[in-house]
Amino acid sequence: MSDSMQGLKRSCYCGQVTAKDVDKEVTLTGWTHRRRDHGGVIFVDLRDREGLVQVVFDPTAIGPELFDLAETIRNEYVLAITGRVRLRPEGSANPNLKTGEIEVLAKDLRIFSAAKTPPFYIEDDITVDESIRLKHRYLDLRRPQLYKGLALRSKVNQSIRNYFTAHDFLEVETPTLINSSPEGARDFLVPSRLRAGEFYALPQSPQIYKQILMVAGIDRYFQIAHCFRDEDLRADRQPEFTQLDMEMSFVEQEDVIQMVEGMLVTVFKETLGLDLPQPFPRMTWRDAMERFGSDKPDTRFGLEMVEVGDIIAESEFKAFTSVLEKGGRVKGINAKGCAGFSRREIDELTKLTAIYGAKGLAYITIQEDGSYKSPITKFLTEEQTVALVERMAGQPGDILFFVADTFSVMTAALGHLRLRLGEILGLIDKDKFNFLWVVEFPQFEYSPEEKRYMAMHHPFTMPMDEDMAMLDKDPGQVRAKAYDIVLNGVEVGGGSIRIHQRQVQEQMFHALGLTPEQCRSKFGYLLDAFEYGVPPHGGLAIGIDRMVMLMLKRESIRDVIAFPKTQSAMDLMSIAPSTVDAKQLEELHIAVKLPNS
Ligand code: AMO
Ligand code: AMP
Repeated sequence: MSDSMQGLKRSCYCGQVTAKDVDKEVTLTGWTHRRRDHGGVIFVDLRDREGLVQVVFDPTAIGPELFDLAETIRNEYVLAITGRVRLRPEGSANPNLKTGEIEVLAKDLRIFSAAKTPPFYIEDDITVDESIRLKHRYLDLRRPQLYKGLALRSKVNQSIRNYFTAHDFLEVETPTLINSSPEGARDFLVPSRLRAGEFYALPQSPQIYKQILMVAGIDRYFQIAHCFRDEDLRADRQPEFTQLDMEMSFVEQEDVIQMVEGMLVTVFKETLGLDLPQPFPRMTWRDAMERFGSDKPDTRFGLEMVEVGDIIAESEFKAFTSVLEKGGRVKGINAKGCAGFSRREIDELTKLTAIYGAKGLAYITIQEDGSYKSPITKFLTEEQTVALVERMAGQPGDILFFVADTFSVMTAALGHLRLRLGEILGLIDKDKFNFLWVVEFPQFEYSPEEKRYMAMHHPFTMPMDEDMAMLDKDPGQVRAKAYDIVLNGVEVGGGSIRIHQRQVQEQMFHALGLTPEQCRSKFGYLLDAFEYGVPPHGGLAIGIDRMVMLMLKRESIRDVIAFPKTQSAMDLMSIAPSTVDAKQLEELHIAVKLPNS
């Protein structure tokens, strides 16, 4: 009996057989999803990437010898069957299955391979520890949900390629072994065998190469690029991830935004069949922070932050007025209809804001009879309390929350409080895809640890024309030609117009506190290239993993990556990282010194 594909030709995928095929002979291949013995007749649900189909082994149709073979079939055995499609008997159709109206009466069977009992069911909605799924990723990927993720990614990539190619972009591959540049996240390093003591870095993004491609006259570049960042991981971060990276010459911010927006609209239409409303809304960074307490606001719900500093300033509430005196801010959020929050619920929200540095979470509960319950009204006059309530459109049944702190702590605390309230109150419509451009980012952010300004996007980002004069005088006030594309409160992409004038670049390095020598050692080759004629240029990169995760409404990017790493950056299937032979280390001129040895 053969166990190869010899002489067999699959006619279609299991999941594609329908009532239209009744009476046709089909050859199907796949994995045994389930096997049931029904007194003399065996039923097998055969599964491939497109779905399941019911196969019937009846000794009168298949003969005694092959029926005996069918009896050996167990879950996950890999088979081919040939048989005739027939309607299932009255009353036994399965409306939940695409192939539920039919079954295939087998007349031939081949078993290609046996299988051990898998450690978990190959089904969606299983509750199994993720580490077991990751260890046996080949089984995990057999589940429809995971397959759907990979299939959508493939379509998205195809659609991106078609779009950019149609707009005269060239797909160019940039290297994976590059020079280490310390700005940004931590680099992954690769030791050189040929040059003792020297290292390559894996790219955090193709940023410098794509700018050099513009100097090279490529004009329009894109790439679906692997990027590597050795940073702390979260649900939407992986050490190794994929960017759609693009760059254009002789353009302004508006051109890049239009091009990328057009791409997103095309991709959503071609892959999900959705018409995204255009133009995408835009918001300045300042507005995003003031209204939503975040540079990536989730605009699927309201609960916006309200300024109350002017009312508080008149009061005797020292905890708040002292914040204002030091240049801090006080804002509030009206949690509509939440006056019934228990002490414990308020404590939990207070703990949440404390994570972001808030020193407390003040509140005023407006009770149904219009009276107030609050730990802070005792510090306010009746007029001040009424003014606060009016400013925040407070109604009986509402609870008003306040945080007083530096701008960054206040926005982070209230921004996260807002997100939590949005969840608790069920205000987030999970079916929405709310894209938003956030523009006019600050050029710099001050690092108290390094005691210097750091580039908020990167050091090649062009300041806004009207702010250029402040570059030397007041760097904190300078806004950049930098933009992020946000989807449902997640930053899916970001980019900027780059500096192409040498003198502006020098001013920038100066503002960043970098000496000419430091710049040379960090970015020497880009600066060299810039000596030979630079076009005005700009671009953007989108995190494909994050975007596909959101398109499928998943919580983790691991669900849309074929072989992801765990939170502790491990590949549990191949077991990486791992130790290597002494000989390999020797060839690389490396001695390992463990932390406690
Ligand atoms: P940036 O650093 O903002 O910009 O990255 C662009 C997008 O890449 C995604 N991303 C990640 N996705 C998963 N895991 C990670 N660890 C991770 N880090 C980033 C995000 C992010 O918005 N060179 C510039 C782009 C440019 O200026 O053109 C850059 O890399 O979705
Ligand atoms: P206190 O008088 O310090 O007990 O504060 C009274 C209320 O104000 C308490 O509910 C505190 O949680 C709250 N509170 C104190 N400082 C702040 C702050 N900086 N921001 C928000 N709430 C605060």
